[in-house]
Amino acid sequence: MPSEQQVPTAGGGATQAAIEHHYDVGSEFYRLWLGEEMVYSCGLWTGPLDDDLEAAQQAKLDWHATGAQVDGAQRVLDVGCGWGAMLRYLVAERGVARATGLTLSSDQAAVAAASCPPVAEVLLEDWRDHRPDAPYDAIVSVGAFEHFARSDLDAGQRLAVYSEFFAACAGWLPPGRRLSLQTIAYEDFDPATSAVSPFFTEEVFPESALPLLPEIVAASHRWFRLVTFRSDAEHYCRTLRLWQQRLEAGREVAVGMVGRDTYRHYLRYLRLSRAMFERDVCTLYRFVLQRRPTPR
Ligand SMILES: C[S@@+](CC[C@H](N)C(=O)[O-])C[C@H]1O[C@@H](n2cnc3c(N)ncnc32)[C@H](O)[C@@H]1O
Repeated sequence: MPSEQQVPTAGGGATQAAIEHHYDVGSEFYRLWLGEEMVYSCGLWTGPLDDDLEAAQQAKLDWHATGAQVDGAQRVLDVGCGWGAMLRYLVAERGVARATGLTLSSDQAAVAAASCPPVAEVLLEDWRDHRPDAPYDAIVSVGAFEHFARSDLDAGQRLAVYSEFFAACAGWLPPGRRLSLQTIAYEDFDPATSAVSPFFTEEVFPESALPLLPEIVAASHRWFRLVTFRSDAEHYCRTLRLWQQRLEAGREVAVGMVGRDTYRHYLRYLRLSRAMFERDVCTLYRFVLQRRPTPR
């Protein structure tokens, strides 16, 4: 539910109220099916796609931290930090001196701040409003880009918003330093010619639209070189199946926490999301990008 403390949003992407519609239904509800660390994005399997979600989430944190070259970094930014798993990992496992996370969810900010060490800073802040007092050594952003453009924007407006994001990241990074980015994107589906289900754009993720690969490439190209790229649709199928199984296994507890309707809503969302990956409507991209010395 929207909190009383509202962060001003510069425009273009999901507002705090829209973010909280999805993320602030109860942190313990999310913990039930995401797992103890509450990582809410696609895992990464380095071997066979088994059922070890915790290992896959750890491997995903590791992949982005390694890609962004965080080891020994003084300052790392996580744009869309969720409940703080990456911040905790950066400080505890990678020796980062100061980790800063941004989220638009009040529940997430409270849980992340309470569970992170003091050298991690959690801000209830839109990246558009972020004004760090010094550059970062690395930036990660995992599963947040999906919220950066509203569903009523056309392709040109989406490109402008995504370009604004990459320009902001470039402004926070010295040349040669890296941004590791993970996002869902449309694959064999064009929102310009096909209707997106209102279940997703109105009920599950209001004010949010998925990007297309050429948009991400066009928006980042001026500021960033592409270092590494992966497309992992089958990893999201597996992640969604495991989340669904855990939610079903915890049915009674979940219904006690959020009620029958919300429980069913989340099950439907997880099932339909998996179907979209299975049918190649969507895929999951991971990018490592390096800040160019001068913009192209
Ligand atoms: C799916 S969660 C991913 C959380 C985390 N990265 C993870 O993998 O568990 C999306 C996150 O993006 C954040 N977010 C969305 N739009 C944002 C914005 N404009 N500025 C800052 N954070 C934003 C949400 O608040 C949420 O924390």
